Amino acid sequence: VWIFADDMYEHIVYDGFRFATIAEVCPELYERTLTVNGCSKAYAMTGWRIGYAGGASWLIKAIAKLQSQSTSNPCSIAQAAATAALNGPQDFLADRNAAFQVRRDMVVSMLNEVDGMRCPLPEGAFYVYPTFAGLIGKTTPSGRVIDTDEAFVGYLLDDAKVAAVQGAAFGLSPAMRISYATSDALLREACTRIQTACAALR
Ligand SMILES: Cc1ncc(COP(=O)(O)O)c(C=O)c1O
Repeated sequence: VWIFADDMYEHIVYDGFRFATIAEVCPELYERTLTVNGCSKAYAMTGWRIGYAGGASWLIKAIAKLQSQSTSNPCSIAQAAATAALNGPQDFLADRNAAFQVRRDMVVSMLNEVDGMRCPLPEGAFYVYPTFAGLIGKTTPSGRVIDTDEAFVGYLLDDAKVAAVQGAAFGLSPAMRISYATSDALLREACTRIQTACAALR
């Protein structure tokens, strides 16, 4: 069994959560663990397209051989920016996590006010994943039955103009994923709209 550890959200953690990668926790798994990471989340560099991997040297060499023949490679400007991000001061991470934590807490508490919805408190990243078994089977004001999480997120998009991703895409339904990587004001408005849309279900 191989382990592919995607540690992209390593730096975005809350409530004193201490991040550890699997190869650190279980060094005996090192030979069959590939650890991947990137600059997209911690350094808000999504468009720069820089990811990287660590693992056994034979594996990394094989990846480099395959990748260099099958894709184009990141430009030197993006590579220099990634070096600056990874080697530069990291103190902004704590301030940004504090801002994310305020957003997380607001979104979780507003979603938990909805009858039929339950939103766990995440320890990292910038998504919440509420479940809403209590809303399945209800009917929208236009007469559509909410029978799946796709139907529910479709209703939110059409009627509340709020975008969420159906939980089926991640393998756990009925649920949805909401990103809170946006402003406090937009999140408050979005959660208010979700509350209103859910209250209108019969
Ligand atoms: C867990 C995880 N890994 C990797 C990525 C990919 O990031 P990118 O392709 O922007 O480097 C994402 C982005 O959503 C992610 O959520």
